[in-house]
Amino acid sequence: MQRNVTGMQGSKICSHIYRRIRSIASQIIPAGTAEPYNFKRAQEYWLNVPRAQGGNPFNTHELMHLSDDSLVQEFDKEMEISRRKEERKVGFALAAESIADIEAPKVMDYGCGMGYYGFEIMARHHGAQVTFVDINEANVSAIKRIAEAKNLTSRVSYIYIRDEQARDLSFNIYFDLIVSMGVLHHTPYAHQIVRNLTPFLKDGGIFLVMLYNKTYLRQMESAVGRRLSVSSFGAMTDPVISGLTNPYSEPYDDAKAKRLFQGYKLISAEYPDPCYNTYRFRKLNRI
Ligand SMILES: C[S@@+](CC[C@H](N)C(=O)[O-])C[C@H]1O[C@@H](n2cnc3c(N)ncnc32)[C@H](O)[C@@H]1O
Repeated sequence: MQRNVTGMQGSKICSHIYRRIRSIASQIIPAGTAEPYNFKRAQEYWLNVPRAQGGNPFNTHELMHLSDDSLVQEFDKEMEISRRKEERKVGFALAAESIADIEAPKVMDYGCGMGYYGFEIMARHHGAQVTFVDINEANVSAIKRIAEAKNLTSRVSYIYIRDEQARDLSFNIYFDLIVSMGVLHHTPYAHQIVRNLTPFLKDGGIFLVMLYNKTYLRQMESAVGRRLSVSSFGAMTDPVISGLTNPYSEPYDDAKAKRLFQGYKLISAEYPDPCYNTYRFRKLNRI
C-alpha cells in the first residue's frame, strides 16, 4: 500500500536529511588554517565578560558609568541566576567542599571575569580570602568596586595579568585552592599557565577547572557542516561583539585534561552540562 507523505512530513524528512548531510560534511570538510592566537586581541575581546547564563555579556568598561548601587544590583541579579545554573552550582559546591576544613583558606580565581566564583566562595566560607586575576584591567576594576561596595576589601586582592603565559605572576602567599572556570580552553598556553601557577599552590592544594569538551566541538561542527579550527570554534562558542570574536577555544576530554595537570592527581570529574567538564586536581607534594 502506498502512503501519502503530507507537506509537514515532507519538510521534516527534508530537514532530517539536511541535518544528516551537514553532520557527515562536518567530519569530512577540513577546518582550514586557524588564525594565530593574538593575546592583545584576547584582552580586548574579554572586556566582554559572560553573564551568569553565558550569553549577552557585560562590557566591564561600560559598567564604570553605573553608580556603585546599580553595579551591585546588576551583579547580585546575575549571582542569583548563576546559583541556579547547573555547571556553576556544581563548581560552587566543589570549591566550597575543597576548603571546608581550612580556617582561613586562600583562593585564587584565575580568569575571574565578573568574579562569580570568587564572590560565591567568600559568601560560603566567611574566612576565605580571594585573589581575583584577569587579563583585562576593566574586569578587575569592576570587581574591585563590587568588593568595596560589599565591604569585602580586607578579604580580596586583584591582579591584572599582562603576560599571555602568566609569567608575570608573583605572590608572597601560597593558595589552598585555585579555581579557573571556563578559562584555560581559551588559550593555547594552558600548559604553561598551569606550570606557572603551580608554584603558588600549596602541596596538597586543589586546582578546580571547567573546560569545554569534545561534544561541544562536534555539536558546533555539525551545525556548520565542516570541521572547526581553534579560532573558528572560538568564534562560535562566544558571541560576536562589535565585530570582535573570541579568538580561541579548544576542547578537552579526560585524558587531555590529565595531561594538562602533570604532577597532580585527578580527584573528581563531573559532567554538569553536555558541553562542559569540571575537574578537581590535587597537587602532589614536591613538584
Ligand atoms: C568565559 S570567561 C569566564 C569568566 C569567569 N571565570 C566565569 O566563570 O564567569 C573567560 C575569562 O577568562 C579570561 N582569560 C582569557 N584568557 C586568559 C588568560 N590567558 N589568562 C587569564 N585569564 C584569561 C577572560 O578575560 C575572561 O574573564
